[in-house]
Amino acid sequence: MNPNFAQLVKKYRPYPLMNFPERTWPGKSITTAPAWCSVDLRDGNQALIQPMSLEKKLEMYQLLLDVGFQEIEVGFPSSSQVEYEFTRHLIEKGLIPEGVTIQVLTQAREPLIVKTYESIAGAREVIIHLYNSTSTLQRRTVFKMDRKEITALAVAGARLLKREEAKYPGIRFRYEYSPESFTGTEMDFAVSICDAVMEVLQPTVDNKLILNLPATVELTSPNIYADQIEWFASHMKNRDLAIISLHAHNDRGCAVAATELALMAGGERVEGTLFGNGERTGNVDLVTLALNMFSQGVDPELDLSNINRLIEVYERVCRLSVHPRHPYAGELVYTAFSGSHQDAINKGMTAHELAESGLWQVPYLPIDPSDVGRTYESIIRINAQSGKGGVAFVLDKDYGYKMPKAMHPEFGEIIQKITDKEGRELTHGEIWRAFEKTYLLAERPYTLKAFRVLKHQQRDGEDSQAEVEAEVMIDGKTQIITASGNGPLDAFCQALKQVYPGDFTLKNYHEHALNGGSSARAAAYIEIETTACSLWGVGVDTDIIIASIKAVLSCLNRVA
Ligand code: KIV
Ligand code: ZN
Repeated sequence: MNPNFAQLVKKYRPYPLMNFPERTWPGKSITTAPAWCSVDLRDGNQALIQPMSLEKKLEMYQLLLDVGFQEIEVGFPSSSQVEYEFTRHLIEKGLIPEGVTIQVLTQAREPLIVKTYESIAGAREVIIHLYNSTSTLQRRTVFKMDRKEITALAVAGARLLKREEAKYPGIRFRYEYSPESFTGTEMDFAVSICDAVMEVLQPTVDNKLILNLPATVELTSPNIYADQIEWFASHMKNRDLAIISLHAHNDRGCAVAATELALMAGGERVEGTLFGNGERTGNVDLVTLALNMFSQGVDPELDLSNINRLIEVYERVCRLSVHPRHPYAGELVYTAFSGSHQDAINKGMTAHELAESGLWQVPYLPIDPSDVGRTYESIIRINAQSGKGGVAFVLDKDYGYKMPKAMHPEFGEIIQKITDKEGRELTHGEIWRAFEKTYLLAERPYTLKAFRVLKHQQRDGEDSQAEVEAEVMIDGKTQIITASGNGPLDAFCQALKQVYPGDFTLKNYHEHALNGGSSARAAAYIEIETTACSLWGVGVDTDIIIASIKAVLSCLNRVA
């Protein structure tokens, strides 16, 4: 333990709570999707080690359109040539569909504003996003300006927007203003600067001003962001002329939670990125946010049904990777290794298949993986911590073999021995091969060569009577055996006992069709008790009697 570490904490102070007892957000919930705005293309440039090329930006842009984003910040055109050219490319090549609005970012500085307008010439509709930093810290240390000077900067920027707008008739302009580092700004000042910008931009009910309130650096617990949003919205002038937009960063790892609480507090729009890319720890992750809503029965109005495509494009164009435990998307998030979890998932899935309500209520799986294009295959993975339930699930879901419950411990133990020996995860194919080898290929010393039912009759109220003849190869020698019994299976067992060294009794029997159609094969599972042990056998055939006879032989071969 480093004794100095405890001393270092003295460098930090808690962020003060808001004195806001009138807050109402804690009693609210999210019932509708916000307006979404992707800032992937801006942060994809500003925050990547290797910024996206034009081609990669186009690919990301197409993905965002496919997901259903209607507002996309395509860049900061005055800050880099690639972003300028990309914006021009979208407009000149007609790549902005009806119903989609591009957004461009600019600082409140004249040359940048002029260049920004040049970049969007010829567009149908654009959101011009103006920002300047307003926090106490930045005013003091970076700009060395007081509140009045910072307000003057923002107002001058807004006036320039109006001046430039006049040069581009035919474009429907919408405006967004961000008091950057809003959460580090005194709330009364945040309200007054936004009111001042609003007065210049003159929004209307039909063309509201987007007031984007960023947690540029996440400084507090999410409840304080929510308080700030509700306080701001209830103290600003002309609330009806503004759209309150949220833009949370993830420095404390709480951006999703902060955005959720801020939506309860009155946020109507959310800016963020796929998988939370962005400066430092990133922007809020829109995939998680949207799927959190989805899991509560709220339509997120984004199509996330093919999450693997999102991951593939994101990883390739951003050269970042989605963590294996990333909510909803990670490789391991629909997978259970632990035996008790596998067992619970197995039971939950069966109950779900039978339930009429259609409601998803499966333990350990907050959403149905297939809703986001993940397959059931990956749910259960088998390693040394896994249990019988998971193994049974794999055989059922992947291969159609529904082992009877009483058989699970036996095969679970066989798999456990293999995983202990191998010290690694087993693939579903390896589990299947172990099942096949243990039960279906257990063909020696007893092999069935031929079988005939000589007589089989059933009279009302009486046990069925059967007489059978079988040709069985025992240790390479063929023998004909024949006997009668209560049905063909019993008759076969009686016949076999004539050549079997010892006694055995049938303890458990279970069967099911393996696949549909008139030529369906059946699987039979039989547990046999001998003087030495009790074991299961499995047989498969198009004839259920033969399947059960094969199951008996599989058992006795295993005993042998
Ligand atoms: O995080 C932030 O404050 C920003 C602004 C430009 C909106 O990205
Ligand atoms: Zn940001």
